[in-house]
Amino acid sequence: MPDTAEEYLVTQLKNAHALEQMSLRMTAAASKAAEDDQLRKIFDTHHQQTETHERLIRERLEAHGEGPSALKDIAARVAAVGKGAAAVVPDDKPGRIVRDGYIQEQTEIASYELLRRIADRTGDRETVRAAERILEDEREAAAKLAHNWERAAELSLQAAVGGR
Ligand SMILES: [Fe+2]
Repeated sequence: MPDTAEEYLVTQLKNAHALEQMSLRMTAAASKAAEDDQLRKIFDTHHQQTETHERLIRERLEAHGEGPSALKDIAARVAAVGKGAAAVVPDDKPGRIVRDGYIQEQTEIASYELLRRIADRTGDRETVRAAERILEDEREAAAKLAHNWERAAELSLQAAVGGR
């Protein structure tokens, strides 16, 4: 258990960093598996955004005196954010890729909504700003995926039963 609000904030930053590392792997795997230009573009764009998110959160951890060793134990962190290892690499069906991607974005949105409030209460304005900036990208990525339910369903059906 963390003793202070500062320690609690750092724990939440570590969890956010693990989420971003997961997101990097997921978006890369989803892009590879997409077999559809429109879906691939969504994952490629968000992969680039996620590289920025990972850096922003790493910089906030460094500002709190946490070095690279703090970021190593990703397996434990992934468990801490409530996901199994299977969640890191999505199934290769279009519907599953979009579903798993959407769930990942919603998890990140919820995490950053909390993180920005925790940071606000502990007076860390830089983390508030980072969380708000990242939230914009996560919402945009979730919205793009949500625009593609029809496409994902169609592609999934095609993959399952062949073209009509
Ligand atoms: Fe994301």
